[in-house]
Amino acid sequence: MNVLFKNIKELIQVREIAIDFLSGKEMNVLPTLKNAFLLVENGLIADFGFMEDCPDIEIRTIDATGKMILPSWCDSHTHIVYAGNREDEFVDRINGLSYKEIADNGGGILNSAKRLQTTSEEDLYNQSKVRLEEIIQLGTGAVEIKSGYGLTKDAELKMLRVIRKLKEKYPIEIKATFLGAHALPETYKYNKSGYLQMLIDDILPAIQKENLADFIDIFCETGYFSVADTQQILDAGKKYGLVGKIHVNQFTTIGGIQAGIKNDVLSVDHLEEMRSEDIEALKNTKTMPVALPSCSYFLSIPYTPARKMIDAGLPLALATDYNPGSAPSGNMNFVVATACIKMKMTPEEAINAGTINGAYAMNLQDKVGTITKGKLANLILTKEINSYSFIPYSFGNHCIEKVFLKGLEIKKS
Ligand code: NIG
Ligand code: FE
Repeated sequence: MNVLFKNIKELIQVREIAIDFLSGKEMNVLPTLKNAFLLVENGLIADFGFMEDCPDIEIRTIDATGKMILPSWCDSHTHIVYAGNREDEFVDRINGLSYKEIADNGGGILNSAKRLQTTSEEDLYNQSKVRLEEIIQLGTGAVEIKSGYGLTKDAELKMLRVIRKLKEKYPIEIKATFLGAHALPETYKYNKSGYLQMLIDDILPAIQKENLADFIDIFCETGYFSVADTQQILDAGKKYGLVGKIHVNQFTTIGGIQAGIKNDVLSVDHLEEMRSEDIEALKNTKTMPVALPSCSYFLSIPYTPARKMIDAGLPLALATDYNPGSAPSGNMNFVVATACIKMKMTPEEAINAGTINGAYAMNLQDKVGTITKGKLANLILTKEINSYSFIPYSFGNHCIEKVFLKGLEIKKS
């Protein structure tokens, strides 16, 4: 797809030289070009610069006077393949039950698993594609999707096949993560080691056979899976070429971050509870910390201490965690706004965290996350706005006029 954007009020996140990710003080720098053009050829960013250097060519042109362009959001942590919703548990929480109490009574992840197991692959695909289409309209151009609501071989593979089908049918970049170790199913209630062994001996070979996953994940948390379990799952993942990404430090700190770093995981996600030794451990590593502010908002739990982490020199990515239990929203605009409002990140830091650092957390930094020649033209064209700070300022709303994936305008279906 070829298109020339002209008179762009501000072209945001312009990086002449590709970068992997940004850390510490670098996160507060967001390079832009004012009064710019952007040329898209064959779905890729072919050229950009100031309007005075705009090429004079016969091509479809979009006049972006008063509007801005930024790379699409990169949402590195979601669970958008699920069956049914859990608004009844939401009401239970309003009435005083805790997330843990609900889970202990058979709600939570096990509730979603029960529904998913009896949902056909076709129905699951149809429910999930609505969410994918929704997040595309909200400006997301790359997304990671996890399994983990199956908890049986059949149901986990069903989830991963749905993710593969979404990947085949939609132009958005998708990465798939195997999260079999999300919770212990009823049938293995007193046999955790048997469950882990089943994931490793039974499901992982089947995943490899159909090439269904890029990453492996585990919920490393008190009452779910231990650090030793995490080590076992990460070791097994490595044998199958699956890079690790872990759910960790959501409610308690049990040393999962250190285990993740030791195993070179790509990201450690949640991090609502952070000790100073956890921050220390993440310094000078290639592991991306990922904050999920919609989960903190929805569950009323602490926000990831972004200020402390960035001031200590760490990188940080932002993602939605879109799932039926702890964050039933895939709105990256809200995530970026909440990061500014509640975590005191600057608009520059939050936009960097929601674009290039998110791309890195999916191993997609060579394809998306910045305006760089050769990257995919996955773009957000804003409405007329005065400054990019208006994006987080206008929380609960969004400033998106049009979205483009590989240079193609994606209209609401
Ligand atoms: O990332 N923390 C673990 N898993 C999900 C929520 C699971 C659920 O409640 O369905 C999360 O928050
Ligand atoms: Fe999650």
